[in-house]
Amino acid sequence: MSDKLGFTIDGKECEADKGRSILEAAADNGVYIPHLCFMKKLRPVGSCRVCTIKANGRNAAACTTPLADGMVIENNTDELNDLRRAIIEMLFAEGNHFCPSCERSGSCELQALAYRLNIMAPRFPYMFPLRKLDATHKSIFIDGNRCIQCGRCVRAASELDGKEILGFIGRGGKVRVKASSTRGLAGVDISPNDECVKACPVGSIIVKETAYRVPIGQRQYDATPIGADVESGKA
Ligand code: SF4
Ligand code: FES
Repeated sequence: MSDKLGFTIDGKECEADKGRSILEAAADNGVYIPHLCFMKKLRPVGSCRVCTIKANGRNAAACTTPLADGMVIENNTDELNDLRRAIIEMLFAEGNHFCPSCERSGSCELQALAYRLNIMAPRFPYMFPLRKLDATHKSIFIDGNRCIQCGRCVRAASELDGKEILGFIGRGGKVRVKASSTRGLAGVDISPNDECVKACPVGSIIVKETAYRVPIGQRQYDATPIGADVESGKA
């Protein structure tokens, strides 16, 4: 019996190994499905819903849905892209993301997705919440104003660094990432090379005194749109 599964995505005939998620199977075939909370090497949780596709006519999170033989997948459609735009716009409106003054501008996945999806301004009113900054550590800070609650740092700390040092506290719109010490980041074993620090897709976790080493205009997404690596087979 073959270990390959056949499927179509936006009409393109594809094939992928059994056991792949729809998001991974699409990437294997050079098709980029936008995503935020998914990160290679981390357990997918399906929380942001940016990767929503239609599988056999039903909406599903591509990062957590296993590929099945004969699946008909829709990805790059007006309906799905507008759903993704709405999610991204909501994230911009509910936090404090000031791209022109953010250290991650040009290498931020949220900003890069907004460009890719042609977002000009959120359809929702800005909420300007009051959020905390943990700058207690000598070389790392977490800025809650820019956190999109993707959980990548929490999972990376636990799954890749083997450290239970980060977690979520609060409920609903007040959920935020917090170090597991009453002294904040200063009280936990974290260093700039930890995977949990590199996992943040936005400018929420920043290594101090490094932010402008790569000049604006020469950063990851300044020249190459997010997803281009998948589409060119270089991912
Ligand atoms: S700090 Fe960064 S990685 Fe962690 S949950 Fe917030 S946005 Fe995601
Ligand atoms: S990337 Fe799939 S739900 Fe977030």
